[in-house]
Amino acid sequence: MSDTLNLAICGCGARSRTYSNIAMSLHGQFKITAGADPIESRLNAIRETSNNPEFLAFKSADELLQQPKLADVMIIGTQDSYHFEPAKKALELGYHLLLEKPAAQNIEQIKELAQIAKKKNRKIILCFVLRYTDFYSKVKEIVDSGILGNIVSIRAHEGVEPFHQAHSYVRGHWAKSAESTPMIIAKCSHDTDIISWLVNSPCKSVSSIGNIAYFSEKNTPQGATNRCTDGCPIAETCSYSALRYTTDKESWLRMIYPDPNKDRQTHEIIDWLKVSPWGRCVYKCDNDVVDHQQTLIEFENGVSATLSMTAFDSGRSLEIYGTKASLRGGDAIKQQFNTDIVIRNHHNGELEKITLETPEENEYAGHGGGDYGLIKALKGIIQGSSNSDASLIEASIQGHIIGFSAEKSRLQNGIKINL
Ligand SMILES: NC(=O)c1ccc[n+]([C@@H]2O[C@H](COP(=O)([O-])OP(=O)(O)OC[C@H]3O[C@@H](n4cnc5c(N)ncnc54)[C@H](O)[C@@H]3O)[C@@H](O)[C@H]2O)c1
Repeated sequence: MSDTLNLAICGCGARSRTYSNIAMSLHGQFKITAGADPIESRLNAIRETSNNPEFLAFKSADELLQQPKLADVMIIGTQDSYHFEPAKKALELGYHLLLEKPAAQNIEQIKELAQIAKKKNRKIILCFVLRYTDFYSKVKEIVDSGILGNIVSIRAHEGVEPFHQAHSYVRGHWAKSAESTPMIIAKCSHDTDIISWLVNSPCKSVSSIGNIAYFSEKNTPQGATNRCTDGCPIAETCSYSALRYTTDKESWLRMIYPDPNKDRQTHEIIDWLKVSPWGRCVYKCDNDVVDHQQTLIEFENGVSATLSMTAFDSGRSLEIYGTKASLRGGDAIKQQFNTDIVIRNHHNGELEKITLETPEENEYAGHGGGDYGLIKALKGIIQGSSNSDASLIEASIQGHIIGFSAEKSRLQNGIKINL
């Protein structure tokens, strides 16, 4: 393999753009040779990023996958419902994959991809970007060092943030489970992967409950119109008003607006909101994914974990209880103590505070620096000089199994699913 790793991009949306920008910022390490997307402006944005006059553009994944192999690695950045097919074809053509999570829409497909990769001697790296953040890498290092003693239990919490919930899981791409994946996969597969990675033991059982508590018709404020652009009388005070896309929530459009590079005028955004899913009243959508969910996980080594997801908080937090010490970290600790991790020694009650460098406020800070960390690690992982914590499919599949099992349990009122 040459010093430059060649990338082909399948689906030139928000995630692929982020990865491509990072790849090209790592001068000389990557070359983007091809891309596919039915939306021309998105394809052109990747072509521009590639700075490669020989960049090959295709209108669909199918067209790209009809060609012989055009790169070492294919980035699969299409939506959740269209990962399995292009991933399978790309593996068969001999590509390694950087595959967006979720790997596929069910566990059978994920196992099939893992099998094909093994047979073809290819690597599939799942985009569990949190593994590549300073925060979770540090937590993993602490757990593995034994400072906490034996891990007994874990409490993980994910606050999606209300506007984010409305944007992505009420109006947006991941609002309907059958068209994408359930919330516990679409949003929390990062968390189930992290828990699984930290515990490092086979999972024994999972149970889960959750529902839509708020984002439904019964909570519609009086007089609210079907679209925020219909002269809704409460638009000025509604936290979820789509008109906020023209003011303080404008940055969210970067991920969904058809042309990522376009200078957007307010009247154009409003015209777009009149017809787009993102202009709908959040109480009158066709969303069926939960806005809160509690999951209980039991591992064969005796560790138990809980994962709590809610639309009505912001940020991730983690508590790890070991026989020698406990660890608390994440957004809640940051707000309270202005530090990232606090370790409490049970023997003497001493507190150790660990403060990490904050990633710079640019797009590479995405996912706490995890997007950057993943791309920085990619070449080493493919070329075999990688760290052992890489999110290769075989190492990350259990997080997906936990997530899909949790959904199965939730749909049966929380029954315990034995694995
Ligand atoms: N790792 C993470 O933290 C993370 C974060 C957000 C999203 N995701 C996942 O990343 C994936 C992409 O999300 P996104 O927000 O970038 O989505 P997106 O909608 O912005 O991008 C998907 C792109 O695929 C294109 N596309 C559709 N059909 C195609 C086809 N037949 N051939 C080629 N391209 C096609 C679309 O036009 C679009 O540009 C999703 O599966 C999502 O769940 C992961």
